[in-house]
Amino acid sequence: MIKNIAENLKTHPAVFAVGHDYQIMVPVKASCIMFAEIGGERFYDSANGINRSETPVHRMIVPMKKLDNAGKYTLGYRKIINRKPYFPELEDEVLAEYDFKPVRGGRINIYHIADAHNEIVSPVRAGKHFGSELDLLVLNGDIPNHSGTVENFDTVYEIVSQITEGSIPCVFSRGNHDLRGLCAEAFAEYTPSAKGSSFYTIRIGKIWAILLDCGEDKPDTNEEYGGTVDCHRFRLSETEFLKKVIENADNEYEAEGVEYKLVISHVPFARKSVPPFDIEEEIFTEWCKLLSEKVKPHLMLSGHLHQCFVSYPGDEYDSFGQPCPLIVGSKPFRRENKEMGFIGCAISLENGVAEVKFNSDSGEIYGSKSIEL
Ligand SMILES: [Fe+2]
Repeated sequence: MIKNIAENLKTHPAVFAVGHDYQIMVPVKASCIMFAEIGGERFYDSANGINRSETPVHRMIVPMKKLDNAGKYTLGYRKIINRKPYFPELEDEVLAEYDFKPVRGGRINIYHIADAHNEIVSPVRAGKHFGSELDLLVLNGDIPNHSGTVENFDTVYEIVSQITEGSIPCVFSRGNHDLRGLCAEAFAEYTPSAKGSSFYTIRIGKIWAILLDCGEDKPDTNEEYGGTVDCHRFRLSETEFLKKVIENADNEYEAEGVEYKLVISHVPFARKSVPPFDIEEEIFTEWCKLLSEKVKPHLMLSGHLHQCFVSYPGDEYDSFGQPCPLIVGSKPFRRENKEMGFIGCAISLENGVAEVKFNSDSGEIYGSKSIEL
């Protein structure tokens, strides 16, 4: 049954994992204040004590444990009539109930989508591979084609909404095309982020994941950017972040209950590309070394290449010391009748094995692999 979407919401909410919290996010049609209620406690979208109304996308931050244990939440909003400084006028509350399925149990079914480049229909069809058995949706960069307009972010929320209907957790990472356009500088306003940062760690059930963001895919001086990017220093700050994560291993990847350690990065950064994409050899080599020697991840998930394959350390895609098996899992393509098609990646984790399938929006399986972790 397809669940109704409340009148002022553009889509169902998306429940993104960030750190040990969920960020429940949803784009709206008109100004409203908003909250998520879990077990009788309300979590407003607020900033320094002010309930926010003048934002196209709301964000309620809730403790992961609380929502996991409750297994449901209520999303509520009040539309603004006139937010005058005294006695502001608001419409009555509208409430929408959502069930929520935390990542628990022996088998974890993950669906991976990257490079949708504004397409919605075909990535959603492919992303429904697991049906109601889906446990976690990963959106791994370049979901909108660029950040030129706020409306472009609706692609992210449409895809999440149609696959999860507000009831399944998601992970979101930034891709290189996301750095382009007028809204790129405020990207963290419209998408999940760790206090504004696009790289962070996540703990969700037995999974620990580190999101690494390579930024743009060419040198900062490339004329395509016209001097609008500063990614080299951004990547250096990420190296420092990675070192801090390693210093804090006991609370990160070595914490009790962690069974699967994932690296999620739009760009498969262990691979040396052809010019002008052959950037940051030194930094990417250091990331690979820190990950291999300290974190020892089980799997890396990437997109960006518009291909679907599994590559192991030492294979042709490993130039800088790939720390673990790599899954590149997203391929948008055009059919002979000009319709867009999409191949994504279904991953099931169980008993130390990852079963991987590359499936298309029309249900064909383009390849499958079993990876010992
Ligand atoms: Fe990309």
